[in-house]
Amino acid sequence: MTTFVIAVDGPSGSGKSSTARGVAQRLGLAYLDTGAMYRAMTWALLQRGTDLTDADAIARDAEDVVIVSGTDPSDPTIEADGTDVALPIRSSEVTGSVSLVAAVPHVRELLVQLQRSTIAAAEQGIVVEGRDIGSTVAPDATVKVFLVADAAARAARRTAELGGADAAATQEALARRDHIDSTRTSSPLAKAPDAVEIDGTHHTLEEVVDQVVALVEQVREPR
Ligand code: DC
Repeated sequence: MTTFVIAVDGPSGSGKSSTARGVAQRLGLAYLDTGAMYRAMTWALLQRGTDLTDADAIARDAEDVVIVSGTDPSDPTIEADGTDVALPIRSSEVTGSVSLVAAVPHVRELLVQLQRSTIAAAEQGIVVEGRDIGSTVAPDATVKVFLVADAAARAARRTAELGGADAAATQEALARRDHIDSTRTSSPLAKAPDAVEIDGTHHTLEEVVDQVVALVEQVREPR
């Protein structure tokens, strides 16, 4: 049986995580944050002292990293090499390096494989958030959402998350990360042709969750 998958893709700070978790909680589905997996991989490579400017070294060392993601939307957990890394993966060190690691094709192969097996194990269905879920990880997803928000709104959200950091610097860092994420050759951030774009700029989280749930209800309704 194929798993019921809701793919939520979009750039950093578009509200993907809160939306995806909210939809999973509302519908009683599992939840997977694939960005956290790339972050956990980055954390583990930094721990090993891997040279992150060397794509071959990243590809080699990534082979030995063990990442485990919990899929409960009320308590999403992430471990790397047996360590709970929920907090350290949000550090500026990891955030500043993750795009380099996520651009290495072998890292993507390893993590996409892990993501697909996590999806296959979620019998109740799963909401998966990332950059390439609708295009690469789960091209047969039942519902595909591409969540966007304007640059200032995204920077404001990230600034608040970071406890009031410099808004202009945050917007600049987001733009830099978006550029690397959208121009890399291996699975760049891209809207799948059959994804529904939702612009959350002028909506509350609740309203965006409502919009996604309405899309799910449309496809679930008996014809
Ligand atoms: O969503 P996030 O900010 O936690 O993602 C962290 C990084 O991982 C971001 O630079 C893009 C990358 N990423 C990716 O390349 N593919 C995904 N499916 C998810 C995240």
